[in-house]
Amino acid sequence: MNTTALTPFAEDILHGLKSDEKHIPSKYFYDDNGSRIFMQIMKMPEYYPTGCEFEILTGQSGNILDSLNFEGPFNIVEFGSGDGMKTRQMLKTFLDRKANFTYIPIDISQEALNALEKNIKTALPDVKMQPKTGDYFDVLKSMADTKVPNLFLFMGGNIGNYLIDEAKDLLKKFNSGMKKGDMLLLGMDLRKNPKIIQKAYDDPHGITKAFNMNLLKRINTELDADANLDQFDFYSFYNPENGEVHTYLISLKKQQIHSNVLDTDFSFEKDELIWTELSKKFSLDEINKLAKSTGFQVVKNFMDCRHYFTDSLWIKQ
Ligand code: AVI
Repeated sequence: MNTTALTPFAEDILHGLKSDEKHIPSKYFYDDNGSRIFMQIMKMPEYYPTGCEFEILTGQSGNILDSLNFEGPFNIVEFGSGDGMKTRQMLKTFLDRKANFTYIPIDISQEALNALEKNIKTALPDVKMQPKTGDYFDVLKSMADTKVPNLFLFMGGNIGNYLIDEAKDLLKKFNSGMKKGDMLLLGMDLRKNPKIIQKAYDDPHGITKAFNMNLLKRINTELDADANLDQFDFYSFYNPENGEVHTYLISLKKQQIHSNVLDTDFSFEKDELIWTELSKKFSLDEINKLAKSTGFQVVKNFMDCRHYFTDSLWIKQ
């Protein structure tokens, strides 16, 4: 097997598809094509989280501002800001209320940051912006000496895509890069009628299926492989007992995929699963416990009118 200079994607596919319980990390959904499919997911009526968070930030940003314990200027530091559509609602309200802040979006992609900067500057020319490219934690470290207080944003429910121990590690790392009194606004999807959650991740349009199938397309193009997409299907399952959505690809027959880049075959039994994503839904009690165990305290939950989603405001202890 040729293992010289494999990309992280190649290494993770090799490990994930050679394991007894096959899995692919969900971060690999988001190549250019996958990111476009995710935009379609966010527009589906069944996929409620986007609309809920938009509602929260449109209607309650004034209350969020009132709940910050900052005096004078502050920074708003956003991890993984996307196109900034939802954040823009909050920045607009903060500007209208004459808050003195600098918006610091952090992203690994310079291209994404350029597009975001253009969007924000066009809609809100008065916002002071200092975009930073790079790894979240490197940027956090470089900001350790800032005197002004910070509000950190990690929105969209992304924390739900981490295994619980990974989510705790991530939040502890955020915490260790923050000053006492700094705050974190964390988007989290809430437990609700399981049928509503099930539909959001098993939509009738086949868009979530296409999002998953794109992983096989990536394997074919990036690892020069021969997966036949017709021989795989998609399955999604919400377990209301633990609040976890799990999504999978299913092999429809006993088959092998060959990758020329990895110079290996991957074998599948009929009906064998590849786990592709966890999307965790939280209760308010779980949110309180998660905050406590990672060095924070919940200040307030800002929820949409149906209580489907919360932007949970935490303070570093
Ligand atoms: C990005 N993340 C919060 C989405 C979620 O809801 O867990 C990803 C997603 N997967 C399927 N649909 C949306």
